[in-house]
Amino acid sequence: MIALKTVNLELNGPVATVYLNRPEKKNAMNPQMHRDMNQVLDTIEEDGGVKAVVITGIGDSFSAGMDLEECFLQPFDDPQLFYRTNLIALNWFKRLKAFPAVTIAKVNGFAFGGGLLVTGLCDLAVTSETALFGLSEINFGIFPAGGATWAATHNLPRKQALYYILTGDTMTGAQAQEYGLVNKAVPADQLDAETDRIVRKIVKKNPVTLELAKQVYERTTTMDLPTAIDYDQAKLWELSRLSGNEWINVALKQFEKRAYQPGLSTYNRAEVKS
Ligand code: COA
Repeated sequence: MIALKTVNLELNGPVATVYLNRPEKKNAMNPQMHRDMNQVLDTIEEDGGVKAVVITGIGDSFSAGMDLEECFLQPFDDPQLFYRTNLIALNWFKRLKAFPAVTIAKVNGFAFGGGLLVTGLCDLAVTSETALFGLSEINFGIFPAGGATWAATHNLPRKQALYYILTGDTMTGAQAQEYGLVNKAVPADQLDAETDRIVRKIVKKNPVTLELAKQVYERTTTMDLPTAIDYDQAKLWELSRLSGNEWINVALKQFEKRAYQPGLSTYNRAEVKS
């Protein structure tokens, strides 16, 4: 366990677990937490072996969003300080969205503003049914910024995104699942088990394939079909080269021997020659 001032990082082989750790402030993200998150992402990337990153909160909150006092109120009168303070946050938000490993938000409680944003930036999300999500920005007189409106428009249907942006109402974890903001909402006592179930699936996959699958998804969302096909074909050759043709040499060879059914499970990577 690596304990920074406001974030703990647990590295366990292919799984990194990031704990937001300001429970007395509902894990509101102050400048120190933004610095710590940049450092944590550096450490995970440098490790090189991490396939899944789980982000969760200590205590009864995932994150109450940006620290309204330390990030906004206190530095506001000094424009340079305000800019630099918030840049640290914006940097890791952008980084999280494009992170090479699979990112999973494990939403254990309140997820307001930046907390909802982080949920939306992660590739996958699991929540407790009773967690509370909200874009509370309108309640203190601004619109969701720093990527929070983007997170709403890319994770919620239009009417729901606008409803929560314009009213500042809260939604439960169960509603978040209904609208597609999270993959699954479960009773609080099943949150760990449900997250572990997904993580176990991810860590069986080839890390290069996971990384390129994310890239192909992200890039092709803005392409027309012919461009997307040309792009994914080039990426497939890249994948083949980077993985020593593992999909042909190992995965499809095992299929040829009827060792597994790809429709129902994954191939056995223990056979991969290192
Ligand atoms: N920024 C700074 N401090 C925050 C915070 C935030 N976003 N969210 C909570 N805190 C602080 C509270 O001010 C309080 O500090 P104090 O003990 O020094 O008074 C402490 O965390 C506990 O919060 P409290 O309001 O007592 O807990 P609660 O369980 O009754 O309510 C919330 C939890 C999340 C509903 C409430 O704290 C809240 O509305 N926070 C702001 C959420 C928000 O608008 N986030 C968007 C930011 S972009």
